[in-house]
Amino acid sequence: MEQLLGTIPTNNLRHCGINPNHWYAVARTQEVTERPLSVVLWGDNIVLFRDRTSQIQALEDRCPHRQVKLSSGKQIDGELECAYHGWRFNGEGICTAVPYLQTTQKLPSCRIQRYPVREQDGLIWLFPGEIKQLKEQALPPLSIPEWEHLNYIATVAVIEYQGHFSYLAENLMDMYHGHLHENYQAWASASLQQLQVDEGRVDAYYEAQSYYRIDKIWSISQLFLPGLRRLHPEPLNVSYVYPHWVSTLGEDFKIYCLFCPVSITQTRAYLIHFTSLNAFWRLHKLPVPFRRWLKNRLYGSAQRLLNGLVQQDVLMMEQEQQAYENNPHQSNYELNLAVLRVQKLILQQAADSVGCDRQ
Ligand code: FES
Ligand SMILES: [Fe+2]
Repeated sequence: MEQLLGTIPTNNLRHCGINPNHWYAVARTQEVTERPLSVVLWGDNIVLFRDRTSQIQALEDRCPHRQVKLSSGKQIDGELECAYHGWRFNGEGICTAVPYLQTTQKLPSCRIQRYPVREQDGLIWLFPGEIKQLKEQALPPLSIPEWEHLNYIATVAVIEYQGHFSYLAENLMDMYHGHLHENYQAWASASLQQLQVDEGRVDAYYEAQSYYRIDKIWSISQLFLPGLRRLHPEPLNVSYVYPHWVSTLGEDFKIYCLFCPVSITQTRAYLIHFTSLNAFWRLHKLPVPFRRWLKNRLYGSAQRLLNGLVQQDVLMMEQEQQAYENNPHQSNYELNLAVLRVQKLILQQAADSVGCDRQ
């Protein structure tokens, strides 16, 4: 393992942009109904709604008539109706009706931006980049096969903090911060063993101690009963697959963090934790409806743990942002090469997207 001790130049990093030529997680699937929902992705105001066939549509959240938010209006017959004067827009962003149009007048030819959007694995994914890139090069949204798989129990937490998204990417790749979560007994004694950098991703392999072993069905109760936990060694792998993150702890746990950078100083992300039931081969022989019932019944088992971890991380990341704003030229000391590689990837992705124009 390469040894490194030194300072890192953070002043570019903390105001660097996103590479928009990727899919971002902008909402949870149940948040988008027929009522328009306003979301913000890297400064773009976007309105999401379901049309008559329940398909998600994503439009610029701006009425071209007087620039008010279309999300203040409502969905009628699969189209968005502006609250102010009732102009209507279809899912293509084309104006289809003006209630007071005179017979001598034509519909205005105004059109608002439409975004590619997909509903997948419990999330709404949006592509804010160039349509040409989407067609030719962009990877699909990150796949989360455990979301539907009957052997995995999900818990979801939303991370929201006032700070640049790079702080969260670093936090998630630096497993030495288990120190912060000691009282939640998430993991212990991490030691970075190997680091791999490939196109668009950084993979870090740690050795660590886990408190949890899910080998009996009742052992899921370890998630909320600390007295049942025993430390034992497990591999802890974390990957920053730009712009998202995925991790496995031993055989029993998998966590995803799906990013929605809101602005240069605000970040939202969806943390999805899965507990595996793969060890219970008898369970897999039971009827599918029962297994689905069990999956739904155990949904959220790790909620307290996840919420607690998020709260502790948010406190630290907001302090980092504040410290940066107070003194942008103050350097950090960094001992974890995984963090430096992640910073380099974030800067590289931002540089790759320079000159990018939506079409
Ligand atoms: S501002 Fe939207 S219809 Fe007038
Ligand atoms: Fe953490």
